[in-house]
Amino acid sequence: MATFISHSPAATEALGEQWGRTAGPGWVFGLSGDLGAGKTQLVRGIARGLGITARVHSPTFTLVNHYPGGRLPLFHLDLYRLETPAQIHSAGLDEFLQPDGVTVIEWAERLDAIGWPWPPGRFRRVQLEIAGESGRQIFYEDPDA
Ligand SMILES: Nc1ncnc2c1ncn2[C@@H]1O[C@H](COP(=O)(O)OP(=O)(O)OP(=O)(O)O)[C@@H](O)[C@H]1O
Ligand SMILES: [Mg+2]
Repeated sequence: MATFISHSPAATEALGEQWGRTAGPGWVFGLSGDLGAGKTQLVRGIARGLGITARVHSPTFTLVNHYPGGRLPLFHLDLYRLETPAQIHSAGLDEFLQPDGVTVIEWAERLDAIGWPWPPGRFRRVQLEIAGESGRQIFYEDPDA
């Protein structure tokens, strides 16, 4: 696990931007952390790193937002509202884990609960912890390490 200490929303976004620049097709980022931990902020950076200029908002009324137009298409999922294994199973998430795109999932731990088969080698688990008003600790796996 690597650790990144962020002192501002911009720093969190910059970390995501690095990841977006280097992400390859089929990559999946699984984000976990409390409300307001900065998951969506990180996704904004990933989108920017992929060259996506659209404004990124958390998908609240839909399960997924699709951002084309970058180096690779970005699929942004937010599983906050999927509370039970039955809801997760019936949501049809498989179709969003596109081998040709990059997928970022907020509340990814909801999938651990049903034993989701994360793609080996292309999955980066990320845990964000709030450390004061503008501090965040970001722990992440590095599949290349
Ligand atoms: N270092 C930081 N990194 C990221 N966000 C920060 C930081 N410091 C303060 N913030 C603030 O914390 C909030 C993070 O909101 P964001 O929507 O990214 O969280 P989230 O984890 O996606 O929450 P939710 O679970 O509600 O979707 C923003 O208001 C942002 O300005
Ligand atoms: Mg969010």
